[in-house]
Amino acid sequence: MVKKAKSARTKNPAKSSRRAPAAKAAKRALPAQAPASPTVAKKDHTVTLTDNLSGKSFTYKVLDGTVGPEVIDIRSLYADTGMFTYDPGFTSTASCESQITYIDGDAGVLMYRGYPIEEIVETCDFLDTCYLLMNGELPNAAEKKKFNYDITHHSMVHEQLAQFYRGFRRDAHPMAVMCGVVGGLAAFYHDSTDITDARQRTVASYRMIAKMPTIAAWAYKYSIGQPFIYPTNEMRFAENFLHMMFATPCERYDVSPVIAKAMDRILILHADHEQNASTSTVRLSGSSDANPFACIAAGIASLWGPAHGGANEAVLKMLAEIGDKKNIPDFIKSVKEKKAKLMGFGHRVYKNFDPRAKVMARTCHEVLDELGKHDDPMLALAVELEKIALNDPYFIDRKLYPNVDFYSGIIFRAMGIPVSMFTPLFAVARTVGWVSQWNEMISDPGKRIGRPRQLYNGQTIRKIPGLKK
Ligand code: ACO
Repeated sequence: MVKKAKSARTKNPAKSSRRAPAAKAAKRALPAQAPASPTVAKKDHTVTLTDNLSGKSFTYKVLDGTVGPEVIDIRSLYADTGMFTYDPGFTSTASCESQITYIDGDAGVLMYRGYPIEEIVETCDFLDTCYLLMNGELPNAAEKKKFNYDITHHSMVHEQLAQFYRGFRRDAHPMAVMCGVVGGLAAFYHDSTDITDARQRTVASYRMIAKMPTIAAWAYKYSIGQPFIYPTNEMRFAENFLHMMFATPCERYDVSPVIAKAMDRILILHADHEQNASTSTVRLSGSSDANPFACIAAGIASLWGPAHGGANEAVLKMLAEIGDKKNIPDFIKSVKEKKAKLMGFGHRVYKNFDPRAKVMARTCHEVLDELGKHDDPMLALAVELEKIALNDPYFIDRKLYPNVDFYSGIIFRAMGIPVSMFTPLFAVARTVGWVSQWNEMISDPGKRIGRPRQLYNGQTIRKIPGLKK
């Protein structure tokens, strides 16, 4: 039987929250620091919780952000009541304050630093988006020039890192290689692992944004036994990545501007997505003051799962298994019987539509037009599957709509990107989100180590059988 705590064993965590001294806080602050947190406790708005067994009531403040649902500040709940909250999957729990990305899942809204994603993809390139996510504002001309220069000039990796790859089997999944190589960056870049130094944090962040395409492209090159292609400084970010993927020392690879633009847009769409599984993993890892390279490697590991960044790979696998339009009804039946999942559909937050999916569907048509592959049978199958699912009460009732990954796999396939590289590409894009969120957390003077509680359902205390007294 589970014994309930009779009284709280710690003092009020809200009151005991350690505030860093001003000097430490200043050192932690980012060079281009976002404005102070606008979170406020709404005057007179509180929530009272009543324990129906003891009849005791406890009152909690309601905090209000700039937009979105209010939150009940329960930091002193355990101290007050001796009870924890239970919220597996964090469906009702805000784990942090943030000023980076906002999603309204019911309205299908996604904003980076207040700018709607639809406007960003029309007016910004990926590096503008990176600057925006990291610094809170879009760059002016001088800032853009400097940022582009800085990222471009961090894209090469330590030459000895190339040896690292040789330790992996050729048939290793590129995500396995990326987990290892990115974690290993801490062994090469000692001068950017002091997380209390804002300058070192910025350098580490730039390094990861800049090197991730090189690391991902090299994971691919290694898997097919081709020589690594080094980054080219006169190329833009997306173009450079495609070049490192497809050029060889003996053959030029001219990147089509339409394809480079599509890739740039895909990177923007995946750049950040507030407190998703991989980002929360990065924050939780970083909350122990672990070095940034280790934290991003942890994010890559989380992203790998098919319920997250592995979904576009799973979409193509699913379409291949369905094989033909005539098999769609049987597949839908098996989904309803919970024998299969409609991959690329559904989202924890978006319950109306995923705004990224709309841009992605448009990009898909543009890319297939450019490549003359509009009669791709997989696209036809995906369009038909989407149409059927969107009109089926099973999916309508559960608010299941295509997410960003439903079409991205078809685009990547048309571009010649192998399926195993889909998730690494996502990691290339999401790195800026991870480092921005990590920096925001480290800059917060009220940061504490992340340490969830549990509802223990195991054995109560007992003796090992046969143990002599
Ligand atoms: N296919 C079929 N049924 C689904 C799907 C799906 N893709 N997604 C959810 N459902 C069903 C569930 O079975 C459940 O049905 P029930 O009420 O009869 O039990 C209901 O819809 C609610 O689903 P939950 O599992 O509670 O939704 P949750 O928010 O936990 O999961 C998730 C979200 C993981 C994204 C889920 O929808 C899923 O696995 N989708 C497929 C994988 C995918 O595309 N992931 C990419 C997400 S986007 C990204 O990471 C970039």
